[in-house]
Amino acid sequence: MRAITVVPLQAGTVSLTDLPEPDPADGPVLVETIAVGVCGTDLEIIAGDYGWAPPGEQRLALGHESIGRVLEAPSGSGLAAGDLVVGVVRRPDPEPCPNCAMGQWDMCRNGNYTEWGIKAHHGYARERYRITPEFVVKVAPGLGELGALLEPTSVVAKAWDHIFRIGTRASWSPQSVLVTGAGPIGLLAALLGVQRGLQVHVLDQVDRGPKPQLVADLGATYHHGDIASTGLGPDIVVECTGVGSLVFDAMDAMAPNGVLCLTGVSPKGRALGVDAGEVNRHMVLENDVVFGSVNANRAHYEAAAQALAKADPAWLARLVSRQVPLERWQEAYQRQPDDVKVLLRFGA
Ligand code: BGC
Repeated sequence: MRAITVVPLQAGTVSLTDLPEPDPADGPVLVETIAVGVCGTDLEIIAGDYGWAPPGEQRLALGHESIGRVLEAPSGSGLAAGDLVVGVVRRPDPEPCPNCAMGQWDMCRNGNYTEWGIKAHHGYARERYRITPEFVVKVAPGLGELGALLEPTSVVAKAWDHIFRIGTRASWSPQSVLVTGAGPIGLLAALLGVQRGLQVHVLDQVDRGPKPQLVADLGATYHHGDIASTGLGPDIVVECTGVGSLVFDAMDAMAPNGVLCLTGVSPKGRALGVDAGEVNRHMVLENDVVFGSVNANRAHYEAAAQALAKADPAWLARLVSRQVPLERWQEAYQRQPDDVKVLLRFGA
């Protein structure tokens, strides 16, 4: 079967290749892939900066954001042929660590987890895959290929879950949130913020293209430029760019008892001059919390499925700026200026 694969850590190796049919050891549920979403992590893997092949293999099939249709499922699994499904990205480490042992693989402590399409297991950018029912999440049939937005939504569902767990360490009634970055993660973070009844502000560097209107149509406010020029003092910041200077600007702008969640992975080696004493003083005197958030567990996928089911499907559809057929797969991995989310289509 056809699959998009790379030799991890070697740039220039991404290709449409042949892979054997899915291994029955992967699970009793057989799924045909409808589409995979392309994200920054895929581009990093393609650039040779990240990724691990499955043990004993040279190439890794990409794709961790997916939507597929069940072809076969055992009775009693809660799944049936025809269901639209998304596969979870991470699998617990084999030990397992205390978190993985209780289904919180997103909080794995020893780093020996695997991630489909990223770390030591083939991903969903192949025509078919096999999987165990516990790592499959059903999406509303009406969502169609927009179900590929479930995985990035699960990442922000986790971020929101943890923001509120941290915020409610004391009496807390947040009013406003600033989301930095209006890419798919930023826009989905904004959607979930609106669904939580917050005043949502989104900051990005562009002042044209589809992003300003996408934000306005959520009932949120769009800003471009730097954080200081917005004049905001948000209770919550969700940082979705990985730009180091924005992290410190956001810490400066937050209201007392502020919670800043970092979701963007930045490249290493970008040093910044920072007054560490001032940062420490500010955080201590205002009870600020800055924390990182990655990946998602099953509960977050389910929360994400509910969030997508509540969202306006026409708005979600506008997040998908391009759908590229498998025959022209190279185009899916070439960024274009107005891209929000690009889908690579495997089938109807
Ligand atoms: C994925 C996460 C994954 C992370 C690190 C992100 O792009 O959405 O599921 O944990 O990359 O590999």
